[in-house]
Amino acid sequence: MNARKVKEGVFWLGAVDWDRRLFDSIIPLPDGTSYNAYLIKGSEKVALLDTVDPTMKRELMRQLEDVPRIDYLIAHHAEQDHSGEIPSVLEKYKEAKLVCSTIAKDMLVDHLHVPPERIMTVKDGETLQLGGKTLRFIYTPWVHWPETMVTYLQEDRILFTGDFFGSHYATSEQYADEAQVYEPAKRYFAEIMMPFRKAIQKNIEKVEKLDIDMIAPSHGPIYRDPKFIINAYKDWVSDTPKNVVLLPYISMHDSTRMLVERLVAALTDRGVRVYQFDLARADIGKIAVELVDAATVVVGTPTFHSGIHPLALYATYLVSLLRGRIKFASVIGSYGWKSKALEQVAGLIEPLKLEVIEPVICRGMPRENDLKAIDALAEKIAEKHRALGLK
Ligand code: FEO
Repeated sequence: MNARKVKEGVFWLGAVDWDRRLFDSIIPLPDGTSYNAYLIKGSEKVALLDTVDPTMKRELMRQLEDVPRIDYLIAHHAEQDHSGEIPSVLEKYKEAKLVCSTIAKDMLVDHLHVPPERIMTVKDGETLQLGGKTLRFIYTPWVHWPETMVTYLQEDRILFTGDFFGSHYATSEQYADEAQVYEPAKRYFAEIMMPFRKAIQKNIEKVEKLDIDMIAPSHGPIYRDPKFIINAYKDWVSDTPKNVVLLPYISMHDSTRMLVERLVAALTDRGVRVYQFDLARADIGKIAVELVDAATVVVGTPTFHSGIHPLALYATYLVSLLRGRIKFASVIGSYGWKSKALEQVAGLIEPLKLEVIEPVICRGMPRENDLKAIDALAEKIAEKHRALGLK
């Protein structure tokens, strides 16, 4: 992709990574991603905002062939998908200063071996004049690392947000089609931002006071309707979940599956939305997306040797890491002769301080009384959701 004009003196640079299918060696990317850098030309100085993932070095360096001078290289975030080519840019532009938050300085030195003397730190709210273009730096910690900040280009009312409000979405379109970008943005929020929900609430309050025409993130297309993504984030970070049950499960000989099917039917009859995922083939990114709204998680697992099935263990650990807004949890499953599955699940979710609803564990293939216990579990979940007024 070639450089593209956003506004007078403001250009998108970077790379669309159509083929990337995994991020952080764990996160599925069904729609690819992009690494956005932005070039801002003032009458006196030139700034480059972020770089690209090292796999896309060639793209960025080709775009920079027509850029004779960069005075400031702004690093919103030290993670390598944006910072990875900072050393190449500093090598090409010997006079350029690397501008970052105070916390980011050591991180950039450690991760990229940037010479400390090339770094200029800025405080929260500090401005930098390029000549007719004023950059205001705003600290937005824990989105999703501690050093993260955003840049507000005052004259053009563009907010450059790094990962904040981004989407893993490869597209040739410069601007977001809201209907298309909603799910990739939610998937990105779920996997990266959700554990830092409280910090993000504060950061939204901080940035939404600005007069913003566009939000230009470091992943995915630019938003020309900032309210669209700000309101989506407000919904995802609010303290109230929705009337949703997330049901990741695994079954070896169908006994657990029979319990799962009964629970899904019983919840649906009671007006509770449920998302069932067979962990043998599920996209864990999709599980994360549904976790954003879930009030209850029920893990379905058979006993594998004497404990929880490894795939159920993985899903439960992921839920405990991503946190979400879940209030209630339970376990359903079967065993042959003995099981420590319950204790293992309880140990994994203990840090979440959830209310555990009576599990249903049966020996062998479920009998009628086991299925009735599943109906009772569904009723309890529905009651709990009703009591909280979940929609
Ligand atoms: Fe897109 Fe946290 O890096």
